[in-house]
Amino acid sequence: MSWLTGRIVDNRVWTETLFSLRVEAPELAFQAGQFVRIALDVDGERVARAFSFVNPPADPVLEFYGVIVPEGPLSPRLARLRVGDALHIASNPAGFLVLREVPDARTLWLLSTGTGIAPFLSILRTEAPWQRFREVVLVHAVRHARELAYRDMISALQKQRGPALRYVAVVSREAAPGALAGRIPAAIGDGRLEAAAGARLSAETSQVLLCGNPDMLKDAGAALAERGLRKHRRRAPGHVITESFW
Ligand SMILES: Cc1cc2nc3c(=O)[nH]c(=O)nc-3n(C[C@H](O)[C@H](O)[C@H](O)COP(=O)(O)OP(=O)(O)OC[C@H]3O[C@@H](n4cnc5c(N)ncnc54)[C@H](O)[C@@H]3O)c2cc1C
Ligand SMILES: NC(=O)c1ccc[n+]([C@@H]2O[C@H](COP(=O)([O-])OP(=O)(O)OC[C@H]3O[C@@H](n4cnc5c(N)ncnc54)[C@H](OP(=O)(O)O)[C@@H]3O)[C@@H](O)[C@H]2O)c1
Repeated sequence: MSWLTGRIVDNRVWTETLFSLRVEAPELAFQAGQFVRIALDVDGERVARAFSFVNPPADPVLEFYGVIVPEGPLSPRLARLRVGDALHIASNPAGFLVLREVPDARTLWLLSTGTGIAPFLSILRTEAPWQRFREVVLVHAVRHARELAYRDMISALQKQRGPALRYVAVVSREAAPGALAGRIPAAIGDGRLEAAAGARLSAETSQVLLCGNPDMLKDAGAALAERGLRKHRRRAPGHVITESFW
C-alpha cells in the first residue's frame, strides 16, 4: 500500500470530544461517501484508521470529522494535531456508501449517528442527489444537542436546495428543542421520523443509507424491515445500504 503525506491547514474543535481536520494533500480520486485510511507514526509504527471524507471530491482540501475515543490508539492523537503537522493518507479510497450503488427512488434517506454524518456531508455537496431524488432527508442522531455539528453547512445547503433538503436532528440524552427525542429506530417505528421529515418512508418511495454505530445499523435495519425495506445487493436490488464505523 502506498501513502501520501498531507499537511493540516485547519483544526476545528466542536466539543471536548469532537474535532475536524482540514488537510492539504496530493490529489486523490474518490466518490462522495467513500472513506480512506489516515495514519500517524506512533513509536515507530504506523497506526491507521478509516475516515470518511467530509469534503466533496471536487474540493481539493480534504476534511475529516472525528470523535476522541479516550482509550483509542489513533483518535486522541488526531485531535491533538495542529496547523502545519503532517498526516499520512492511504492512496486507495474505498467504500460502497455511494450514490452509484443506490437505485432510483423518490426520497433518499441519509440516517447517521455521531460522526457517521461525515460521508453524507460529502454526498450532499455534489449534484447527484439533487438530480436523482425529489427530496433528501438528512437525519443526525447524537447524545447531546451540542454534538449536532456542521449546522452552518447544513443551513447553507437548505437555503440552496429549498424543500428538497429536509434535516432532522435526534437527541437521545437530553431534551432539545426542535429535535426528536430518543433513537432513530423508535422514531421510524412510531412514525415520528416521517412526520418530522414530511416524507413517506416506504419500499415504494425510498432508498436509505445508514452510517455510524453498528447497533443503530442493526436496530434501524429491523425497523425498516418492518416497513418492507430490505438490504440492497447488486444482484438482488433492495432499499438499504449500510456502513458500520466499528
Ligand atoms: C469505513 C469506516 C469509516 C470511518 N469513518 C470515520 C469518521 O469519518 N470519523 C470517525 O471519527 N471515525 C470513523 N471511523 C472509525 C475510525 O476508523 C476509528 O475507529 C476511530 O477514529 C477510533 O480510532 P481509535 O484508534 O482511537 O480507536 P479504535 O481502536 O479504532 O476504536 C475503539 C472503539 O471506539 C469506538 N468508536 C470507534 N469509532 C467511533 C466513532 N466514530 N464514533 C463513536 N465510537 C467510535 C468503538 O467502540 C471502537 O470499538 C470509520 C470506520 C470505518 C470502518
Ligand atoms: N458523546 C459523548 O458525550 C462522549 C463523551 C466522551 C467520550 N465519547 C466517546 O465517543 C464514543 C461514543 O461517541 P458518540 O456519542 O458519537 O456515538 P454513539 O455512542 O454511537 O452515540 C450516538 C447516538 O447513537 C445512538 N445509539 C446508540 N445505540 C443505538 C442503537 N442501538 N440504535 C439507535 N441509536 C443508537 C445513541 O443513543 P443513546 O444515547 O441512547 O445510546 C446516540 O444518540 C464513546 O465510545 C466514547 O469513547 C463520547
